[in-house]
Amino acid sequence: MAEITVEFDDLPARLLDWYAAHARELPWRVGPGARAAGERPDPYRVWLAEIMLQQTTIPHGARYFQAFTDRWPTVGDLAAAEDADVMAAWAGLGYYARARNLLKCAREVAARGGFPQTAAELLELPGIGPYTAGAIAALAFDAPAAAVDGNVERVFARLMALETPWEEAKREIRVRVESLVPVDRPAEFAEGLMDLGATICTPKNPNCIICPLSDLCAARAAGEMARYPLKPKKAAKPQRYGAVFVLVGEAGIAVERRPNTGLLGGMLGLPGSDWTDAPPREPLDAAPAQADWRRVGEVRHVFTHFALSLEVWRAEGAAPEEVLAKDRLGDLPSVFKKAAKLVLS
Ligand code: ADE
Repeated sequence: MAEITVEFDDLPARLLDWYAAHARELPWRVGPGARAAGERPDPYRVWLAEIMLQQTTIPHGARYFQAFTDRWPTVGDLAAAEDADVMAAWAGLGYYARARNLLKCAREVAARGGFPQTAAELLELPGIGPYTAGAIAALAFDAPAAAVDGNVERVFARLMALETPWEEAKREIRVRVESLVPVDRPAEFAEGLMDLGATICTPKNPNCIICPLSDLCAARAAGEMARYPLKPKKAAKPQRYGAVFVLVGEAGIAVERRPNTGLLGGMLGLPGSDWTDAPPREPLDAAPAQADWRRVGEVRHVFTHFALSLEVWRAEGAAPEEVLAKDRLGDLPSVFKKAAKLVLS
């Protein structure tokens, strides 16, 4: 088949015009008007937002962003925080390796006296991959870098009506987006693509009628917007099972600190069984000793690579070691918070 070459000479100017009129107001962002007047965002806030938003929605991420920046207004403040305080504040955002890398990164940045300003140097820092490095370089430092995430990939897969296998398509998209970054306004170009992907070129039912790029879009021309991106189908998640034990005492519930490595590493957790491919046959084998356990129900949680169903057991007694007060359940990762809430409800 003949190679179709799609020209996008006009794309940056159209996107920037649209963004100037339709930019979302976001707490970490300096909008187009203020930017034109010379204002720049705080690199710490840009970085923190990017890390938080990697796997969550804007409203959910924004609540955590507010809490973090209230409590730790500068990267130096975050660098000086206790690990356990940061892990507890992150609880509910998921992907806890990110919280550990967040702290590592804050400490490295504080030690070196500030964030580096190029994508290549940012990429060296803990927890910063190619997308995040490009986003911070462009948004915080006006470096001519591209920020290509799944949203931008979707937008360009449609614009270019890419039929190539997805891994190859992603490489083509990155090259194309990098070639389009306007050197004088890389931040607004990146933010414009983020906003277009979030508000118009959405995964389902893109709103092409109001899209500033619709007449450049090969998918739209073919009436095949839903066909792209041509991603391979995801395999169904395996199901795992386990049991957790909520020991309820006067002062709160018994918790334990999970090892730093592995799933939910470094977070507070509840005692429990291993998580395996079949429901535990003798769940109480894994229960803390000397308590009268009663099964109260089940909670489910979906992780990146598997779905989990946990039997939840309750007993009364004084915790042998660490206790979490009943009004601090928010310090637990979501799966354990669900279990504790079930017991205490
Ligand atoms: N998604 C990822 N990073 C973002 C940002 N800085 N603003 C809006 N949406 C985003």
